[in-house]
Amino acid sequence: MKAVKSCLVCLISYCENHLKPHYQLTAFKKHKLVNPSKNLQENICSCHDEVMKIFCRTDQQCICYLCTMDEHKGHETVPAATERAEKQKKLQESRQQIHQRIQDQEKDVKLLQQEVEAINVSADKAVEDSEKIFTDLICLLQKRSSDVKQQIRSQQETEVSRVKDVQEKLEQEITELKRKDAELEQLSHTEDHNQFLLNYPSLPALSESTHSSSINIRPLRHFEDVTAAVSELRDKLQVILRDSWTNIELKLTEVDVQPSEPEPKTRDGFLKLLKLSLWIQTP
Ligand SMILES: *[C@@H]1O[C@H](CO)[C@@H](O)[C@H](O)[C@H]1NC(C)=O
Repeated sequence: MKAVKSCLVCLISYCENHLKPHYQLTAFKKHKLVNPSKNLQENICSCHDEVMKIFCRTDQQCICYLCTMDEHKGHETVPAATERAEKQKKLQESRQQIHQRIQDQEKDVKLLQQEVEAINVSADKAVEDSEKIFTDLICLLQKRSSDVKQQIRSQQETEVSRVKDVQEKLEQEITELKRKDAELEQLSHTEDHNQFLLNYPSLPALSESTHSSSINIRPLRHFEDVTAAVSELRDKLQVILRDSWTNIELKLTEVDVQPSEPEPKTRDGFLKLLKLSLWIQTP
């Protein structure tokens, strides 16, 4: 039969049937029953075969009443139950301390969690804001680029039409000159002297040519200067970007602790180390 209880006085484990007298008879009333135990023999003194109910503080072990008169004579002894009660009290104190420490550390974990959230919120906002700022910058450059392009085209049109005007005028003059040359040629072939002399003075004088006055050949650079000015803008922007980038990187490293922290001893130190490792993991 399976044992249901062990008696610390009888030092025997009982099945349900044989346990009954312990509940029914007053003679057993003071017997201490515990859950079935295999180690009942450890409660018996190996020297005197008596139940060990006494604790020897001098030797820190359980003994029987005969031991107190024998090898533990003169030692400081107390009932095992008393020792148990005292140790139980100390054990409770230890547990109290452990619970306190658990609470403290759980509080720290929560603080760290809040820290993580704050880091996340701040980083997310910075990413979003800087993305917007860069988009603005790109838009600004695109606007300028299209302005430059438009103005070059408009200027190109003006210049081309001015040149074409002159070209047209010159072509008209060439036509006129050819016509005159033809007249003169015709006159040069006139055989009749009188006729020749009669017609000669009626030839109109050559009008002033537009050539020398209207065309001033300018250096053939046209829009190269615009390109130069735009690339100067690019170079300046690159310098600004480089300088500002150094500043941005500096601000990024200032977000948190210096990387040369020693082992954290305090909670602050630990928080800093955590921040640091979060920072390092950020690509
Ligand atoms: C913080 O950000 C990291 C990386 O994006 C993410 O894995 C983590 O879940 C976030 N934590 C909180 C509390 O928002």
